[in-house]
Amino acid sequence: QDSTRVYTKEEVSSHTSPETGIWVTLGSEVFDVTEFVDLHPGGPSKLMLAAGGPLEPFWALYGVHNQSHVRELLAQYKIGELNPEDKVPPALETSDPYADDPVRHPALQVNSQRPFNAEPPPELLTENYITPNPIFFTRNHLPVPNLDPDTYRLHVVGAPGGQSLSLSLDDLYKFPKHEITVTLQCAGNRRSEMTQVKEVKGLEWKIGAISTARWAGARLCDVLAQAGHQLRETEAHVCFEGLDSDPTGTAYGASIPLARAMDPEAEVLLAYEMNGQPLPRDHGFPVRVVVPGVVGARHVKWLGRVSVEPEESCSHWQRRDYKGFSPSVDWDTVDFDSAPSIQELPVQSAITEPRDGETIESGEVTVKGYAWSGGGRAVIRVDVSLDGGLTWQAAELCGEGQRPRKAWAWRLWQLQVPVPPGQKELNIVCKAVDDSYNVQPDTVAPIWNLRGVLSNAWHHVHVRVTP
Ligand code: HEM
Ligand code: MTE
Repeated sequence: QDSTRVYTKEEVSSHTSPETGIWVTLGSEVFDVTEFVDLHPGGPSKLMLAAGGPLEPFWALYGVHNQSHVRELLAQYKIGELNPEDKVPPALETSDPYADDPVRHPALQVNSQRPFNAEPPPELLTENYITPNPIFFTRNHLPVPNLDPDTYRLHVVGAPGGQSLSLSLDDLYKFPKHEITVTLQCAGNRRSEMTQVKEVKGLEWKIGAISTARWAGARLCDVLAQAGHQLRETEAHVCFEGLDSDPTGTAYGASIPLARAMDPEAEVLLAYEMNGQPLPRDHGFPVRVVVPGVVGARHVKWLGRVSVEPEESCSHWQRRDYKGFSPSVDWDTVDFDSAPSIQELPVQSAITEPRDGETIESGEVTVKGYAWSGGGRAVIRVDVSLDGGLTWQAAELCGEGQRPRKAWAWRLWQLQVPVPPGQKELNIVCKAVDDSYNVQPDTVAPIWNLRGVLSNAWHHVHVRVTP
């Protein structure tokens, strides 16, 4: 190809199908990405939104493209230059869909700015049993919508023979108010440890994609009952749609089985309060779903619509993400339909103190951390080792006690122990056991998966000891 050839905007815009070739522009350059469309990590349909035109307005939404390896990849497909008069107007290039995002707490460790993804540092994570709202981890896929509480309506699609509901916040307040402590964990928590084994696709979460709050709101089962829904013999799912959406208007969505939604004991909430405050914007203002014991991805924020369907949500995040695979499955062989969507999470624990790489005094060491299991399973024990897993001692569990089968929130734990004399280094390890006697795997390689989810191997922290 002669990469100095000049094309007009009109020529580029006539290349939007596999037959004509699929062209895009970035800055003053023109690319033929026909061959790449099916290989796009974000999916072909997203790439096709930009077909025949500039990438800038779309890439402004997804900061992952702001990396040299993405630019190098694109460069391979260059076919020429854009007519200088046809360059994207700077206003479009710089228009920032995230300009209206809220201001965040400076202590958060940011994994991605657009969309905003951040975790509290380990020093603060277990300082409080209840995570303060400003440092609660944040996992956004899109810009934060700015919703007016006065005009906000939650649309609940009615059952056949029932009635659809359009609920204002005041309508929701009229349902009995239910308040529970629930830990939310992202499926990608501790992904950075998987990356050390082999590259995975996703945000590099450390141990902080987990936090705990008191949530209050209406129980989903009460709202569904008012719309005429009942448990069904046949398979059914409750689908949730957020009011955050991408440039095509596709909203964030997810679903849970109807049986969980209708079970009063499962305590699924349409929450409007977090730690006694209205939900912060980053956490779903004015209303989000809270599904105790279930992966964060199903706790849909900025909730706009609830419906009961025979199948799971068709959302990308339900069907093409948040699933686990064998370590031998790669992006060429993965079949997302072959694996169930993640719902309940496996048992998890991590050390928040001391920090990896820290130097501690000889004498005594205090080891602290968190432990939690999905599905309401209680943490019955946390074992701590100072010698890489040769010998173990049980830590003291602290924080709120857990109800059997409804242990929705984490336990914090600590262990104060003498540093074995003469040790120059400690390889501190923790592992938790839940009340089904599920344990954490000892190493991460056998649970490695291409998306880097469900990372729950023993957590290690290496420290040096001053003589
Ligand atoms: C991810 C390239 C167009 C949305 C990625 C990644 C690459 C890439 C290499 C993976 C980055 C990483 O994880 O390090 C490209 C190229 C494009 C293009 C070469 C144009 C020729 C688009 C468009 C959109 C889009 C137009 C949106 C409308 C996304 C999303 C992800 C992604 C959402 C993240 C997927 C995930 O992590 O789940 N893209 N992209 N891309 N892309 Fe694109
Ligand atoms: N809901 C909407 N509408 N949009 C989102 O991007 N992210 C999900 C879930 N709900 C998301 C969403 C994911 S993957 C997680 S882990 C949790 O929200 C994170 O909730 P938090 O940001 O309040 O910690």
